Amino acid sequence: MGIIRNLAAHVGVIRQTLLRNHKRITMSRRLHARRLDGVDKNVWVEFTQLAADYKPVNLGQGFPDFSPPQFIQEAFCEAVKGGPEMHQYTRAFGHPRLVKSLAKFFSRIVGHEIDPFEDILVTVGAYQALFCAFQALIDEGDEVIIVEPFFDCYQPMVLMAKGKAVYVPLRPREGSSVLSSGDWVLSAEELASKVTPRTKAIVINTPNNPLGKVYKREELQMIADLCIKHDLLCFTDEVYEWLTYDGAKHVKIASLPGMWERTITVGSAGKSFSATGWKVGWAMGSGHVIKHLKVIHQNSVYHCATAAQEAVACGFEREYELFGTPESYFQQLPAVLHNKRRKLASCLQSVGLQPIMPEGGYFMITDVSSVKVDLNDHGTKDESYDFKFVKWLVKEKGLATIPVSAFFSPEHSKEFDKYIRFCFVKEDSTLDAAENILRKWSQTK
Ligand SMILES: Cc1ncc(COP(=O)(O)O)c(C=O)c1O
Repeated sequence: MGIIRNLAAHVGVIRQTLLRNHKRITMSRRLHARRLDGVDKNVWVEFTQLAADYKPVNLGQGFPDFSPPQFIQEAFCEAVKGGPEMHQYTRAFGHPRLVKSLAKFFSRIVGHEIDPFEDILVTVGAYQALFCAFQALIDEGDEVIIVEPFFDCYQPMVLMAKGKAVYVPLRPREGSSVLSSGDWVLSAEELASKVTPRTKAIVINTPNNPLGKVYKREELQMIADLCIKHDLLCFTDEVYEWLTYDGAKHVKIASLPGMWERTITVGSAGKSFSATGWKVGWAMGSGHVIKHLKVIHQNSVYHCATAAQEAVACGFEREYELFGTPESYFQQLPAVLHNKRRKLASCLQSVGLQPIMPEGGYFMITDVSSVKVDLNDHGTKDESYDFKFVKWLVKEKGLATIPVSAFFSPEHSKEFDKYIRFCFVKEDSTLDAAENILRKWSQTK
């Protein structure tokens, strides 16, 4: 059965390649723009296609395989039935009801009165908010410090803005057991040593994808002090802000003294309400910074889907009222995920793997160097170990994960190419199916 499935998948891949090649045009001069050089590879494109071809149990890409909560689904249905204006363009920089609800909601958290029309830009997911930030604020030759591991799109976005990415890795604290993401820390000296007169911004992601690290207030203060001392911007990707476990607390760096004016906070309704396909996100910060992101937005996407924004607005209005109570979805989702996190961790441990327990987010990484497999027939010769391993796992065992070296710079990826990432925002039945695969396999070893 497995052989037939593999064969069918291989035939599908060959057919698609033939179809693609058939349509090629020839030009006497270079076809693609130079800004595409070095940014064409994308881990999501590659591994989403692999999952589509082989139909594995999918703990790869970060999206829930369960429905969003009832209230947000109903809000979407209501929006669609809400009259002609719900189907037409709305305000380009964010539907008025949404920017008002976001401003009201986050003013309380940031401790700063957020202006709905000046300080917020609604975007096509957090992805577009990041793109607008890099395009609007990074110039040719500017250096951008990125803390590793990082969500992979930061690097190509810096390159497309003609900036230079400079990397600082989180490292396991000396003498630590390394079994919690909290054991991975940023060296203040190393970070400071990367700042040059060309440095324009520092990029952080908390809770972090893929490690699950939730930056502590002191760590954020250290980054904030550096930003203020050297007059730097801070891009902070907080799409998993509600997902923290075991008492870890998410702190917004924008709420620290002196940081509101220089911080662009990126958020995602897709991650907040388990509706990643809606692609509603935002960039938030001082109006004097956000106005530049609006220029990129107005000259590219211009506008985001009205009904989805209306529904997200309803979601935030509800969450404002229920904030901190057990009825709040921002309390319920982490509670559900807390159990799934434990379930996945004990499954991995039971087959002899040592996962790094995430303090936040919905991913867990584990070192697979103890697993002995022959990867000769998987991936290309110069491909890193984890890429080959993940391909092998999909094709031979029917389980999709993501290689962790994709979240590191070329200079540090070798140090982390024995780790793979599992996503646990999945139905228990999906996690059970993954467990079955791992157990069966561990018994045959
Ligand atoms: C850290 C991080 N930032 C941004 C995004 C993109 O979010 P969105 O789907 O809202 O564009 C993701 C998606 O996985 C992510 O993990």
